[in-house]
Amino acid sequence: MNSDIGIIGGTGLDSLAGSETLAKVTGDNIYGEPSAPLLSISLEGVNAIFLSRHGRPHRIPPHKVNYRANIYALKNNGVNTIFSINAVGGITVNTKPGSIILPDQIIDYTYSRKHTFFDEDLESVTHIDFTHPYSEKIRNKLIIAADKTQTNIVTSGTYAATQGPRLETAAEISRLEKDGCDIVGMTGMPEASLARELDIDYVSICLVVNWAAGKSEELITMESIRSHIDSGMNKILGLIKHTVKII
Ligand code: HPA
Repeated sequence: MNSDIGIIGGTGLDSLAGSETLAKVTGDNIYGEPSAPLLSISLEGVNAIFLSRHGRPHRIPPHKVNYRANIYALKNNGVNTIFSINAVGGITVNTKPGSIILPDQIIDYTYSRKHTFFDEDLESVTHIDFTHPYSEKIRNKLIIAADKTQTNIVTSGTYAATQGPRLETAAEISRLEKDGCDIVGMTGMPEASLARELDIDYVSICLVVNWAAGKSEELITMESIRSHIDSGMNKILGLIKHTVKII
């Protein structure tokens, strides 16, 4: 199985509706088993590899995802561009539920995750540049595709990666806001930096599925999260389909 393009689907996107599955491989590698088999798919004629981050069925919580095995498996199968899809909570005013955000920065608040390939048996200590954590080249293509397809997106923002699996306290969200974060999710790191370590162009497309803790009077329920997922994921898929045609 070989393709330049990888898609990592998050909560609400365990499979890609409307795409044809051409092949399936386990993707096992020296870092272990990826969350699910890799699916070779055709997105309107463009080949891509799809990986469900939380497994199929959806069963692996964010802190238990084997991010290294996932990224390594994609690289092993020829992937050099990853579209990562993430469900997030909205913190700042332009991130209301239903919005699609293309973050351009991350702050990492996670802990105890296996977060690097440069860990053992090193010939030399390696520090990757991570000033701009997402690929500007692919972000720009997504912005063009959004324009062409008249999809409303927010073209920048800072993603706070939290440990989970619990949601945050209101005080934690206030702190993230003071830190300059716009959205909060549990899976953005170490995925993004592992991709950079393997020289993969990585972008995140975030769907806001709830107001972050303390940002609305309403309780955060799985039902309301699910309703935003159902309506938003199709838009994201449309955006990716258009983008893969122009890269
Ligand atoms: N916090 C963290 N992760 C999330 C949230 C949230 O509010 N919503 C979806 N993923």
